[in-house]
Amino acid sequence: MTNNYLDLLANFGIGGAHPGGFLLTQSILKKEQIQQFESVLDIGCGTGQTAEYLAKHYGCTVTAVDNHPIMLEKAKTRFLKSDSSVIVIEGDIQQLSLREKSYDLILAESVISFTTISSTLNKLAGVLKTGGRVILIEMVAEQSLTVDLYEKACRLYGINEILDEAEWKLKLGQAGFTQIEIIDTPYELTQTEIKDINPSDTITLDNFELWDEHNRFITENFESLGYRVFRCTL
Ligand SMILES: C[S@@+](CC[C@H](N)C(=O)[O-])C[C@H]1O[C@@H](n2cnc3c(N)ncnc32)[C@H](O)[C@@H]1O
Repeated sequence: MTNNYLDLLANFGIGGAHPGGFLLTQSILKKEQIQQFESVLDIGCGTGQTAEYLAKHYGCTVTAVDNHPIMLEKAKTRFLKSDSSVIVIEGDIQQLSLREKSYDLILAESVISFTTISSTLNKLAGVLKTGGRVILIEMVAEQSLTVDLYEKACRLYGINEILDEAEWKLKLGQAGFTQIEIIDTPYELTQTEIKDINPSDTITLDNFELWDEHNRFITENFESLGYRVFRCTL
């Protein structure tokens, strides 16, 4: 299924394509005390900036999954260039058969909203080791959204659902996760400075127009839409 917003991120080759950007990623990971013997799954890895950092900085075993061929091609090029040993899997996280209870840490940085949320959370709960942890960075509704705004956001980002914080916590709990907490505020959806970019030759005018629309949208709706970093265990 095509998603114009994800296509534009892939064509621009934007790394750290999530609220808070790569600086937030580094700050989250710093507190996780990741050990070399741990197995980390980065779902929706995009162009692989976080996966590369995990492998290089922590020396842990990293598996990076994405279902967008352009994202994965750029991720693979990155891993090759920096000689990072990241296991790459192409596929839809909802369909992949990953080994049950095999990961110590799962990261999803602005990914789950693009999938069928409950089904992906169930999947993650299945592949996480008991005692493992999951960290999600996801968009949330900060207040009750008008139908117009809800539909506009869904159309712009090619998503079906926008949850508020309580709804995310409920779905995480239903998937079996415990100790669900919010870490690393603030919550405002602003476009962070892009420092990691690997553009394709095939960027279209539509890509630029959609990028402008996205930036206008988050500026105009900062009171209604934000994000949270959810951390939970199993
Ligand atoms: C907003 S981008 C974030 C990319 C990366 N996590 C980052 O922060 O730079 C969302 C990513 O999730 C991937 N994605 C979306 N749905 C997916 C699915 N069902 N299975 C695997 N990857 C998916 C997209 O291809 C895209 O690379």
